Amino acid sequence: MSEISGLQMARLPLHHGCGQIPALGFGTLIPDPAVTVTATRDALEAGFRHFDCAERYRNEREVGEALQAGIAAQGIERQDIFVTTKLWNSNHRPERVAPAFEASLDRLKLNYLDLYLIHTPFAFQPGDEQDPRDQNGNVLYDGGVTLLDTWRAMESLVDRGRCRAIGLSDITLNKLLPLYESARIKPAVVQVESHPYLPETELLEFCKKHGIVFLAFAPLGHGTRPGLLENPVISAIAVRVGITQAQALLAWAVQRGTALLTTPKTAARARENFEISPLPQDAFDEISRIQTRQRLNDVVNTGNPGFIPPKN
Ligand SMILES: NC(=O)c1ccc[n+]([C@@H]2O[C@H](COP(=O)([O-])OP(=O)(O)OC[C@H]3O[C@@H](n4cnc5c(N)ncnc54)[C@H](OP(=O)(O)O)[C@@H]3O)[C@@H](O)[C@H]2O)c1
Repeated sequence: MSEISGLQMARLPLHHGCGQIPALGFGTLIPDPAVTVTATRDALEAGFRHFDCAERYRNEREVGEALQAGIAAQGIERQDIFVTTKLWNSNHRPERVAPAFEASLDRLKLNYLDLYLIHTPFAFQPGDEQDPRDQNGNVLYDGGVTLLDTWRAMESLVDRGRCRAIGLSDITLNKLLPLYESARIKPAVVQVESHPYLPETELLEFCKKHGIVFLAFAPLGHGTRPGLLENPVISAIAVRVGITQAQALLAWAVQRGTALLTTPKTAARARENFEISPLPQDAFDEISRIQTRQRLNDVVNTGNPGFIPPKN
């Protein structure tokens, strides 16, 4: 159970004694390298201690640089921060997993990871091209490797003490079930798009039942306008409670028992998104009753990353 009395400090337990994950996470999907550095430092300064990265974001070096500088400046210990990165689709072949992991770790300037995720369940043609396409522009998938093959290689990383926990991202319940059944080391975390327009209730219930942390990305609807941040229910609650729309959405996510990732790009927004407190029960229930349904990122269906500029 998370401690929701102080949402900023809320932590969720990871199974197998892998420690805890701070519920409030800072996401590093930021195309601009210079903004990556400043936003990561601002997030650390605001109080964020959970950082979500990916080799596909092509900015692990900048995140690593910002974390090192921030840690030194603030006298924070490595064990005080929780760092995740993700294995990209073109590295699903088992023999590619450990080298991809070590390369990420090197770019992040770390000597272990708290959490390593399979970024999507879709294997692309193995190689260094992250977006392999045929001459017609169609993605080249890899039929020669299963998700379980990749998972076994992830398990070896835990066995060797290279990362504390492993999990999956952009996965549906249908794909999670067989993997969960066959896994020797069960997934500790599942990262998917989730917000009031995409509550993913069935997946969340499964995760809660099996002690898997449900980690929501796009809790603000990716900042899309018009969108969640302008929803009349959210706006009315923000006025009534005396908070911002973003704070209402983030508090709702933590109060329903999920961890979340948000990407404020300025120091003021980092403080705003970190300084959240519990919503009154009636406000929480009103948000839960919103009926609009919208998926913003189609990655879960194709393995093609949404929100990432095609070539950067
Ligand atoms: N596993 C996956 O496939 C996957 C996919 C997508 C994302 N993610 C992860 O999830 C993280 C978060 O995703 P997200 O970027 O969609 O999160 P989000 O927090 O829902 O949306 C971020 C956008 O919201 C705006 N914003 C942030 N704070 C705000 C505030 N207080 N008030 C108003 N607008 C605000 C920002 O707009 P401005 O640009 O105007 O500042 C920002 O671009 C990513 O960085 C990444 O780590 C994972």
